[in-house]
Amino acid sequence: MASKTAVRPEPAPIEACTIARDIQNFDLLIEDMEAELGEKWGDLGFEDSLGFLAEPEAENLKFIAVAMDGADEDDLAKVGRVIEAAKARQIKVILIADDVSPMALHQLMRNGADDFVPYPLPEGALRDAIERQTRAPAAPVLVLQNHGIPARDRSEDRNGAVLAVHGLAGGTGASTLAVNLAWELASIDKKEPPRVCILDLDLQFGSISTFLDLPRREAVFDLFSNIAAIDGDALAYAMVVHGEKLPVLTAPADSMPHDFLSAQDVTALIEQARKNFDFVVIDMPKALVQWTETVLHAAHVYFAMVELEMRSAQNALRFIRTLKAEDLPFEKVRYALNRAPKFTDLSARGRIKRMAESLDIDLDLLLADGGRQVTQANDHGQPLAVFARKNPLRRDIEKLARSLHEINAAKVSAA
Ligand SMILES: Nc1ncnc2c1ncn2[C@@H]1O[C@H](COP(=O)(O)OP(=O)(O)OP(=O)(O)O)[C@@H](O)[C@H]1O
Ligand SMILES: [Mg+2]
Repeated sequence: MASKTAVRPEPAPIEACTIARDIQNFDLLIEDMEAELGEKWGDLGFEDSLGFLAEPEAENLKFIAVAMDGADEDDLAKVGRVIEAAKARQIKVILIADDVSPMALHQLMRNGADDFVPYPLPEGALRDAIERQTRAPAAPVLVLQNHGIPARDRSEDRNGAVLAVHGLAGGTGASTLAVNLAWELASIDKKEPPRVCILDLDLQFGSISTFLDLPRREAVFDLFSNIAAIDGDALAYAMVVHGEKLPVLTAPADSMPHDFLSAQDVTALIEQARKNFDFVVIDMPKALVQWTETVLHAAHVYFAMVELEMRSAQNALRFIRTLKAEDLPFEKVRYALNRAPKFTDLSARGRIKRMAESLDIDLDLLLADGGRQVTQANDHGQPLAVFARKNPLRRDIEKLARSLHEINAAKVSAA
């Protein structure tokens, strides 16, 4: 008997859908969707999509690709509603954005979009996004393990100490201190090394990735776009590890406005980092931003970097006034004088004393001028301990790390 194979095959179930005002404006997307899904995809306008997403059929969708251009920004709420409807059904959303402003993208990521790809689509970008969104979540802890970082005990909260570094004038050496302090802390105890990480929160000009020769990963933007969902795995996944012992959350690949992160976002990020690390070193932007206060409150020590010059002194004065006016915890701030003159330079000692007195601060943390080697180490993407062990700046930072480690160890054993 002839087999009863269907004469006409059932149409393949739809696995994905593009949603756009007019899909013909996105012909490269049509090509890529065909290449990735053959006939298993459909196309809808914004209005129809809301009805479709409510139907039982939508359950089979693996993702939707919402394609928009600048003209759709006039009715961003409409696009937002589509994204929210898809998320309510746990369908992944990939935004395809042609000339869309960062603020609009920010809003749509907040509505719940999972990923975005610029249009015209770069080669392979849609495939990568589909793979990222539809594969089972990776085991991010492994990312760290692969770099030699031991797996953390999930039940253990390390309750880390937060050390923030803020340059009060451009180029005063804040990022150099952040990198080298973190490295010294991570290297301080061979038997029981503390777990140390760096968060580069200089979202516009962050240089930690350069100073440690690390790539800036797209995953940072993804993490920042959905910080409400942060957990240890999401944080570990967005980090890259330098020298097998120093995980870094670099600044995002593209500069972003500092108010991309809210105070709550930064609180959630620091809380998560503290759970996973003994020391959380934060490189702050030079500008005062809406979450500077948040970091000040979270910090155990907040290093404010200055140099012996008028510009630093004037900025320090403004900074101190702001702290006092807003009733911020200025006792946490430790002023560090970078490129400090040698101890034997008596006239310079007098100038340091006068600067401290006029600002009414202690200026006892002096970091030596390390000369050209410091910039060379930064340019080579290496900490000073690796590039120039005997550099005077390295010795000062090592001493500082040792004292912080001792204080922290004493606190932990007293607890
Ligand atoms: N103590 C030092 N001795 C010699 N060179 C230094 C010292 N500290 C920093 N530098 C050099 O000064 C430059 C600026 O340092 P860095 O980028 O760390 O400053 P920053 O405060 O983070 O600057 P930005 O305002 O750009 O964030 C770098 O080239 C660095 O190598
Ligand atoms: Mg910097």
